[in-house]
Amino acid sequence: MGNCCCGGNCQDARLKEILEQYKGMDGVLIPVLQKAQELQGYLPEKTLRTIADYFDMPYSEVYGVATFYAQFRLIPSGQNVIKVCTGTACHVRGGQKILDRVCSELNIKPGETSADGKFSLEPVACLGACGLAPVMMINDSTFGRLTPAKVSEILAKY
Ligand code: FES
Repeated sequence: MGNCCCGGNCQDARLKEILEQYKGMDGVLIPVLQKAQELQGYLPEKTLRTIADYFDMPYSEVYGVATFYAQFRLIPSGQNVIKVCTGTACHVRGGQKILDRVCSELNIKPGETSADGKFSLEPVACLGACGLAPVMMINDSTFGRLTPAKVSEILAKY
């Protein structure tokens, strides 16, 4: 906030601009949430409340939609973003076990950030490397032909 050229209101002003674009339109919650998330990289409670107030919707409804779709984050991303593929090719080759191992190693669930802020975990539908299934990415690096043991080794290096 302190570094902001307009006293910390930039985000608010930009959010307001987004809301105004969709004023009076129906069924716009998802695009509004997408654009609002682009502003800060996640959707803080304050933003969800502003959206609910603006569209005269119950907060619980906005919160429900934001938590239902994996594309929305309610907390900031960790320093390292882990994407585990849950697509068909990865699934048949043990993708769920990879996801489970990441969760147990970091003590988080999909969509969460670890308590130390070091990792966040996002399941994704396909990472475009199906030939290497099962696959995960950490930031820009792709890791294929994974086993749960390999996952633990890889995470230990970060
Ligand atoms: S299904 Fe996993 S990379 Fe395509």
